[in-house]
Amino acid sequence: MARFIDELKRTHRCGDLRAANVDEEVVLFGWVATYRDHGKGVFVDLRDREGITQIVFDPSLSGYEALPKDSYERSKALRPEWVIGVRGKVVSRGTNTNAKLPTGEIEVHAIELVVFNKADTPPFEILDEIDTGEEKRLQYRYLDLRRAPLQKTLRVRHRINQTVRRYFDEQGFLELETPFMVKYTPGGARNFLVPSRMHAGKFYALAESPQLFKQLYMVAGFDRYFQIVKCFRDEALRVDRQPEFTQIDVEMSFVNQDDVFKTMEGLVFKVWKEVLGIDLAEKYPSGRFPQMPYAESMGKFGNDKPDLRFGMPHTDVTGLVIEHAGGGIPFFKDIADKFTSGKYRRDLPTEIVKAMRIPAEHAAKLSRTEVDKLEEFVKGMGAKGLARAKVDAQGNWAQSPLAKTVTPELRTAVNAATGAGDGDLLFFQFGKESVVQTVLANLRVHLAKRLQLIPEIGHGGKFEFLWVVNPPLFEYDEDTKQWAAAHHAFTRPHDDCVDLVDTDPGKVLCYRYDLVLNGFEIGGGSIRLHDPDVQAKVFRALGISDEEARQKFGFLLDALRFGAPPHGGIAVGMDRLAMLLSGAASLRDVIPFPKTQKGQDIMTDAPNLVEEEQLRELHVRVAPPPKD
Ligand code: AMO
Repeated sequence: MARFIDELKRTHRCGDLRAANVDEEVVLFGWVATYRDHGKGVFVDLRDREGITQIVFDPSLSGYEALPKDSYERSKALRPEWVIGVRGKVVSRGTNTNAKLPTGEIEVHAIELVVFNKADTPPFEILDEIDTGEEKRLQYRYLDLRRAPLQKTLRVRHRINQTVRRYFDEQGFLELETPFMVKYTPGGARNFLVPSRMHAGKFYALAESPQLFKQLYMVAGFDRYFQIVKCFRDEALRVDRQPEFTQIDVEMSFVNQDDVFKTMEGLVFKVWKEVLGIDLAEKYPSGRFPQMPYAESMGKFGNDKPDLRFGMPHTDVTGLVIEHAGGGIPFFKDIADKFTSGKYRRDLPTEIVKAMRIPAEHAAKLSRTEVDKLEEFVKGMGAKGLARAKVDAQGNWAQSPLAKTVTPELRTAVNAATGAGDGDLLFFQFGKESVVQTVLANLRVHLAKRLQLIPEIGHGGKFEFLWVVNPPLFEYDEDTKQWAAAHHAFTRPHDDCVDLVDTDPGKVLCYRYDLVLNGFEIGGGSIRLHDPDVQAKVFRALGISDEEARQKFGFLLDALRFGAPPHGGIAVGMDRLAMLLSGAASLRDVIPFPKTQKGQDIMTDAPNLVEEEQLRELHVRVAPPPKD
């Protein structure tokens, strides 16, 4: 029987001991974080997931059982990341306390040592702050995970999970599972496909979300469902996107949009309290988050996930430009003419003109060379340039090619619409709507970081929540010249818009909503269509025949005909939530074993090649890679 572990059980964790424990005999297990041999004694910082305790190996220390000579000799051989066990006495450090450590008032004088395992020299030091490249850290992820910042963020995940489970249980929700291997259904994100061995040539899809199954739970009468669930999407990756991510997924019966909001607001309040100790009621005394119509969000911020920690909204001046027939500016006239000649319709995505006002106090911090550099920044996003104007006390425009030709009428109208006054800077974007929106949305955030209105990374202690509501049900596909579902074909239109589905699809608003935090979409959902007649109308507007609908969504349409209750739900991106709560720079920092930007796991080397035989069994033949 081994002495340590079998006989000598761990008494404390390495972050536990305080002055009150002095004179106690303790047993600690952990990793050697640092090691110093002072000649007379060996000092080790022992680390486990709870913290660090200083251990002293010195046979001359007296007053209690002494450290045997052989243990002392073994302590001299210790090296970083060796795994050891120690029995010892807790002693006060007197005046030598280490204020940086919670255990800094004490040290443990070792009486007995065991080396459980030696360690190779790690490829990087296990320190809180390191500048090792991310690739190396991902290759040795288990070592990176030993570092305190990552230990902390994974604890945030744990805490979120526990809070979510407790909250939903208390609210009468059932935690129910849904399959990962599902039928491929079109629409939404691109799926990963899994070839079937038993059904030659056929494939499962990995579920991009439990969407259809959670609706079936409602049809089955489960009333309130939630799940903390992995989802799989084969899409372009970004700082806030992983191919394999986790949702807090929710569905409820007999509810309207506001009921879903209240449920989720309650959850967010609880998570903030449990994880950060922050009472969101101080900022949101009603317990409710503000709501903004989708159209307002697009107009003011160029996207549907505005960061409200700072101002600098956009102003759409297309109407003014049309009214003033371009106001003397050739590019503007070009656009205005297309509208007046009837070539463009205002209800379809065409070309627009937008302005963004930088208030004088901020504009003063931007040098002309810096503003020139902004032009390069926007060109990187497909903009042709960045028109600008510096406004003076009389409302004149300077430092701008626009200033030479603009009519006083348009200038005055634009100044009034944007609220521009002395010292303010106006930036303009015009052209294809989608480009203008993206460019100005990104420029707004870029400038806010540059002007230190928000930190480069993290939340800066500010949390701005927002529901973006009432988006259009359909969006116009410029390639096919047809209306397509903006989200999916099962979102319920507003009751007063149902008649417009046939006659004017572009005007149909729907019960879809996104929860936004500091410029990130942390959740999204909708009230579902449960009425077969309206469903048929929507399919018709989308140009989907009955037969096609049956083929694509047959099982859900069947289910909806067998007494589907009114229902709706939402899914919150759990990884994004953890990232924003912990102030991390990317999702990779809050996912224990993440994929790289290219979707690889460089620790295990996935994806990898498999044997020819395996492919044969799966009835798959690999085509030679395409030539570039
Ligand atoms: P949606 O597609 O909006 O809705 O996803 C919900 C939330 O999941 C997060 N998310 C992601 N997080 C990390 N990596 C990704 N690749 C990724 N994709 C999405 C976002 C997003 O807000 N079934 C619907 C929900 C519903 O209607 O109830 C759905 O999946 O934070």
